[in-house]
Amino acid sequence: MEIGSVDYSTKIPNNVGLTEDRQVLRALESWHPGYLSWWKDMGPEGFQDSLVYLRTAVSVDPKGWAKFDYVKMPDYRWGILLAPQEEGRKVNFGIHKGEVAWQEVPGEYRALLRRLVVIQGDTEPASVEQQRYLGKTAPSLYDMRNLFQVNVEEGRHLWAMVYLLHKYFGRDGREEAGELLRRRSGSEDAPRMLGAFNEATPDWLSFFMFTFFTDRDGKMQLESLAQSGFDPLSRTCRFMLTEEAHHMFVGETGIRRVIQRTCEAMQAAGIEDASEIAKVRALGVIDLPTLQKKLNLHYSLSLDLFGSEVSTNAANAYNNGIKGRFRETHIDDDHQLTSSIYPVLKLVNGVIRQVDEPALTALNMRLRDDYTSDCENGISRWNKIIEGFGITYRLSLPHVAFNRHIGEFRDAEATPAGDLVSASEWQAQSGRYLPSNDDAAYIESLMKPETQPGKYANWIAPPKVGIDNKPGDYEYVMIAA
Ligand SMILES: [Fe+2]
Ligand SMILES: [Fe+2]
Repeated sequence: MEIGSVDYSTKIPNNVGLTEDRQVLRALESWHPGYLSWWKDMGPEGFQDSLVYLRTAVSVDPKGWAKFDYVKMPDYRWGILLAPQEEGRKVNFGIHKGEVAWQEVPGEYRALLRRLVVIQGDTEPASVEQQRYLGKTAPSLYDMRNLFQVNVEEGRHLWAMVYLLHKYFGRDGREEAGELLRRRSGSEDAPRMLGAFNEATPDWLSFFMFTFFTDRDGKMQLESLAQSGFDPLSRTCRFMLTEEAHHMFVGETGIRRVIQRTCEAMQAAGIEDASEIAKVRALGVIDLPTLQKKLNLHYSLSLDLFGSEVSTNAANAYNNGIKGRFRETHIDDDHQLTSSIYPVLKLVNGVIRQVDEPALTALNMRLRDDYTSDCENGISRWNKIIEGFGITYRLSLPHVAFNRHIGEFRDAEATPAGDLVSASEWQAQSGRYLPSNDDAAYIESLMKPETQPGKYANWIAPPKVGIDNKPGDYEYVMIAA
């Protein structure tokens, strides 16, 4: 098989030579029916027979890896695709720095690696479950298609992790692969592993915020796993990142279009003050302060995904060459961090203070900081639109102590500005910072489907260009009657 091309002759398209790997092929083929029944139960509800204009990965060549065509989602070719092996790749950090990258799991790191693969794997189907009802309220066929694209790719990311489990982790890998289909987002008895993946995604504003903030956490995690000395994990994550870029595009442009539409409506109605919420809502668009509250919620939930700021698990994963830093090989230091420090924001005697910690144990904090600056870029692009309309309101990221449930600030209450307040003050004020029932009810009232090709719900502007350069009235989803 030619490098970079995908073998479609097996049931499971792949570029890992599955036909010659009978044992793994059989294991995956026996996992496949369970996956399909999970997809039918928990995938996009009501659209399994519709034809959706989807991209499918057909190669791992960066210049042309996808093809677009109409496909019914259950017939999507979920495949196993790893970025090409880099000749002479090394372990680039930690105590094994300079060794040849591992093609097999080092015995002593087996449990650690398996856990990382399972945690990553668990997030993929979780988001599909969280988003399963959104098709019914899509603001356009274009948006509906993007939702389904994200969903099928998260399904493929699950396949990617399940391949690693079957290929490299023997019987416990197979068991974990089964468990990934058993847990359910938001379930009492068998919830997904991470908090943000058990929250509801009840409306499209949540979906766009989720793809902007939570998929971006995914990007940061994949970026650090792509640095792994365990080469198959690195190659798997590198290809996943190619797809992940689209998910964040959906989030960033989704919110951008909401802002665009709101500002247009405000301008047409002669409203300059964004805090005139009732007047803005009377126009049937989403007021900017509500957007800010949604942003506060999704950013703070996503920060929790980075775990404790100071963490020996993170130090071990780094030391052992399993999980690196964001853009590890571009950082100019010793890549072992034996004597470096990193500033960590902590709650010390009731005050938020910056404390120097050993850089090794502060790796979660560092990755979270990289994440925050990645988020800032998007926020400033959003603000440019608001500015362009001459409206003075600005969106901003809340302080990292705000609304946290994990890490240094889990027991404190802080305002978005980072002022610590008592529990009772927080109770009294939180409706100003996080979406209230009223806000939720208003947003829900806007969630009416728009299924005419080329038409958009009133609360969101059309995109600048179509998917795959299709014209404005392209029928991205042919909804089955
Ligand atoms: Fe994913
Ligand atoms: Fe994603």
